[in-house]
Amino acid sequence: MSIAILNPACPPMISNAPTRVPPTAAVIFGATGDLTHRKIIPAFYHLAKNNLLPDDFAIIGFARRPKSDDEFRKDLDEALQKFSHTKPVDKAIWQKLLAHIYYFQGELDDPQAYKRLAEKLKTLPESPKIGENYLFYLATSPNYFGPCAQNLAAAGLASKPDGTRHRLIVEKPFGEDLKSAQELNRTIQGAFAEKDIFRIDHYLGKETVQNLIYFRFANAIYEPLWNRRYIDHVQITVAEQVGVEARGGYYDQAGAARDMLQNHLFQLFTLTAMEPPASLDAESIRDEKVKVLRSIATPSLDFLQKNVVRAQYGGGFIGGKAIPAYRQEEKVAHDSLTETFVAARFEVDNWRWSGVPFYLRTGKALAVAFTEINIVFKRPPSVLFAASGDDRLRRNSLRIRIQPNEGIGLNFNAKIPGKAEAELVEMDFLYKSGFDHYLPEAYERLLVDALIGESTLFTRSDEVEQAWRLVDSVKDMWTKQQVRDLPLYACGSMGPVESDLLLEREGRHWIRPKEITA
Ligand code: BG6
Repeated sequence: MSIAILNPACPPMISNAPTRVPPTAAVIFGATGDLTHRKIIPAFYHLAKNNLLPDDFAIIGFARRPKSDDEFRKDLDEALQKFSHTKPVDKAIWQKLLAHIYYFQGELDDPQAYKRLAEKLKTLPESPKIGENYLFYLATSPNYFGPCAQNLAAAGLASKPDGTRHRLIVEKPFGEDLKSAQELNRTIQGAFAEKDIFRIDHYLGKETVQNLIYFRFANAIYEPLWNRRYIDHVQITVAEQVGVEARGGYYDQAGAARDMLQNHLFQLFTLTAMEPPASLDAESIRDEKVKVLRSIATPSLDFLQKNVVRAQYGGGFIGGKAIPAYRQEEKVAHDSLTETFVAARFEVDNWRWSGVPFYLRTGKALAVAFTEINIVFKRPPSVLFAASGDDRLRRNSLRIRIQPNEGIGLNFNAKIPGKAEAELVEMDFLYKSGFDHYLPEAYERLLVDALIGESTLFTRSDEVEQAWRLVDSVKDMWTKQQVRDLPLYACGSMGPVESDLLLEREGRHWIRPKEITA
């Protein structure tokens, strides 16, 4: 697993690489964009605050608009005051970091700009100490990912075999289907070595997601049960309360299957279903994750029609806030057939999981925002309790709460005091009370890992392609269906009734998050 521990007081748990970030110049392409303001700069600030950045460190923001260093720094300052997840911002630390942040004006598709960038990288005040350790962060619109990598290579800034570090972080979405992802992989791998390419899926940076490996393999009690003999089914939910907000233009092209299923849900899926890796190094873990996806045969049209549900949200109120119907959102087509909700049932055809359904669902404008993995065990034989008139024995389940209320609950039947009846109760672990450690944001972890060259928490090329193979089959089925309309679900509900039926027809039901469990 990745090795830089973000709480400096805490020693690394697994260490097979240097933990210190080397002197580096990080170049952010798309430096005036939302992602830079909301996530990347706040993450760098928190790394500085936790003493994880070296003194010889520089950040260059590459963007199109003319701007001075001071103007750029002022924009970043405003953004940090707004988006920092710890407040107040520590002025001394932030000012020290700001002094190492520079602006570079250039067009993303202009090869000359990259040559100028190469010169600039050699002449920064920090350059003598940094040498040629560069991290390039593609936080641009996805159509520039390929051209940027090619232009970096043409300017001599791509991977070098001589040990200097030139690394590339690529944001999501990585392609829009299997074919485009393969093309993008080819282009980027033409410029950077695979070990220097860091494809972001920010879910992997979440502490609770990384904990899946520890939970499964650092405990003796779960692994013997983690298979088709004991597990009835698995549910993975990523539910959001927000609608598409200002991202209608992007989202209307993507939809829930591309935006969430292909990446975040499949990451949770593979970490839940993978075999124990041979070691905790990046390749062993990623090998096992890819094997899960490979064990899912491309589903037939008939299977998909029965096992995949899509829908779109109508307007309404959530928590007193008005949400327009999806088709009324800014930059969304009035007759859009883009799904904002998807639920799907997959089967992993291997010795561990054969016959165990994995139900995945995600949607926007839902009743509650929560991300959970529920491992639902087989029903206990009720012969003993049937005799005493109690036929209510429920299935045991593990509720792995990725967010919010990060923690893990184990549900089991307990005798109701004074009655000869059982009821399901929950034994609960809560991160907040279990640890008093600083809980880093996903981007902090991912930036450190990319800076030290640790790739476990980034998606490998074959992993991305396998995930697209499955999502493509779903999208192809939808194209073939040629529907004129989509089912709508009420905003503030838990999705369309078809999603409930997907489980109910097999005698199961979606487990509600704890907060709204009646
Ligand atoms: C992004 C998606 O990757 O993840 C968004 O593009 C989604 O649509 C977001 O809202 C969810 O991330 P988180 O960390 O808030 O669960």
